[in-house]
Amino acid sequence: MINKSSTTSLAYKAPGSFEETRYEKLHNVIVESSTTGSLQIAHTIAELILQKKDQNKMCVLGLATGSSPLSVYRELVRLHKEEGLSFQNVITFNLDEYFPLSKDDVQSYHYFMHSNLFDHVDIQAENIHIPNGEVTLEEVRNSCIAYEAKIKEVGGIDLQILGIGRTGHIGFNEPGSHLNSQTRTITLDHLTRFDAAPAFQGIENVPRKAITMGIQTILNAKRILLMAWGSYKAEIIQKAIEGDISAMIPTTYLQHHKNTTLVLDEEAAAELTRIKTPWLVSTCEWNEANRSRAIAWLCETTAKSILKLTDEDYNQHGMSDLLVLHGSAYDLNIEMFNRLQRSITGWPGGKPNADDQYRPERAQPHPKRVIIFSPHPDDDVISMGGTFDRLVSQGHEVHVVYQTSGNIAVSDQDALKYLEVASDFIESKSDSAIETLNKAFSETTPNQPAPRSICDLKGSIRKRESLGATRYFAIPDEQVHFMNLPFYETGMIAKNPISQEDIDLTVAIIEKIKPHQIYAAGDLADPHGTHRVCLDIVFSAIEILKPQSFMKDCWVWLYRGAWHEWDIHEIEMAVPMSPDQVLRKRKAIFYHQSQKDGVMFQGNDHREFWVRAEERNAATAQKYQSMGFSEYAAMEAFKRYFF
Ligand code: F6R
Repeated sequence: MINKSSTTSLAYKAPGSFEETRYEKLHNVIVESSTTGSLQIAHTIAELILQKKDQNKMCVLGLATGSSPLSVYRELVRLHKEEGLSFQNVITFNLDEYFPLSKDDVQSYHYFMHSNLFDHVDIQAENIHIPNGEVTLEEVRNSCIAYEAKIKEVGGIDLQILGIGRTGHIGFNEPGSHLNSQTRTITLDHLTRFDAAPAFQGIENVPRKAITMGIQTILNAKRILLMAWGSYKAEIIQKAIEGDISAMIPTTYLQHHKNTTLVLDEEAAAELTRIKTPWLVSTCEWNEANRSRAIAWLCETTAKSILKLTDEDYNQHGMSDLLVLHGSAYDLNIEMFNRLQRSITGWPGGKPNADDQYRPERAQPHPKRVIIFSPHPDDDVISMGGTFDRLVSQGHEVHVVYQTSGNIAVSDQDALKYLEVASDFIESKSDSAIETLNKAFSETTPNQPAPRSICDLKGSIRKRESLGATRYFAIPDEQVHFMNLPFYETGMIAKNPISQEDIDLTVAIIEKIKPHQIYAAGDLADPHGTHRVCLDIVFSAIEILKPQSFMKDCWVWLYRGAWHEWDIHEIEMAVPMSPDQVLRKRKAIFYHQSQKDGVMFQGNDHREFWVRAEERNAATAQKYQSMGFSEYAAMEAFKRYFF
């Protein structure tokens, strides 16, 4: 039932035994995606359960919550339901729980574990252990001591699963935790509470404390697997793996443990020296991607433009073998310079009647049919408003497809405002729609899914705002499509898994429009975030449609969301904007009023979306300029996706 080769690839190897792991102090395995990694972890767990069963023993698992292990639990449930994996010989201990918090609260880890795993498998209730967030302040210490004793009583943890927080915490062992710490209460760091804020509908609702297993409790486990997915974990992963052991980054304590493996997807591994600057670690395969990456890095490190780099610069920065293989700095500089220069175009849909040999897009056909997929109703203008505007003004048939309703990002106050305006113009105050909505608002409680009627009102607000922006860019309403993908419609932060319906709806719209160009948000930050899910849905639809003849003529371009930009060496099309075009883009973003002036899900960047967008686009233009190209006010950047 379980594919052995996938699990053995996670086998522990002491760090330092291979040339490429220079700088690394923790064993890690890089997998192609969080899905692959989650399957491997789930199968490792399943194998251990079976092995223990054969020995007539109980299997003691240490479990984590949060977004990271969700797909692991999903696969374990599948293995139970479809392949008969039994949990009768399993004992579990969870890492942590908020304190104080009722078990019934939808944000409690108790609720999380039951809804994502325990309720769907045959584990015996008495074998489940989760720190108790319901005990009183007086009782909590004894309850922590009893928790430790219970772990010892069953012979210790065989396999501990961990995620990692951006503070570097494991469990809730925040910076400053002691190596010898045991299960105890802890005050949560601001960053941890901040990251949890969306789920609790605001940081003020996030508990200030938690109960957590200690560092020592975790290190006593016989085997440890820590998983990290997405680029927003990349920075802390680099520190955990390459940094010295420090209480300020508790994950580094795992360097004491001789049977720990970190499972990382490519985005989470991106800041490791062997990935980011492989030429500093060992001999590097000098393919085109690595050449571009190395030269962009060299410009930044030496603060020189491309054409000023010398043989000496290459030699002094670990790139002498590149010179041996590819000739002098002069040749390499020219190659990179041409590549970047050819990425710049004011004609994102291709320039008609022009030689397109060195342009990022084809001249023909012209005009093109274009789909801009926008995960939320505003990503189109925030991330590629300048390009959108140009495509329309250059005569292309632009369709915008809003993938989700974006309804949870509208505050109750905003929604009530529209409801009150509507009521002012309706003769009978007992109009049934208004009445239903007023009743729904009076009955809502935080931490419970919003009722359908409120979700619909909020969705409608975002729809009207989007139409304001698309009309400003002068596209007819018939070319604006609202998909309201079902995976998003939970009324909560936690979303449903992708369903066949999400993919079918996406296939249908692509098939109807038969585009020559598709733009999609290539956001890799959070594999469970809406942008990433929306991208996976587009990729699945493309995979299905690939054999159709119109797809042979369709190019796919990826833009990045509000938080990141492509690295310079990744950019394949850069669309410059004049100061006036920057202002038009700003105005289009302003139409999304519910997302202005303190949005609900701000993330850790407190700038408004239009400010972020402008600063990001200006930074891309400056980057090009610093490498030796013309000075533009702003630039939007794209990377091509080949299917
Ligand atoms: C959860 C836990 C935490 C999380 C960490 C990462 O039980 O102990 O350490 O593993 O905060 O959270 P996610 O996976 O949501 O990024």
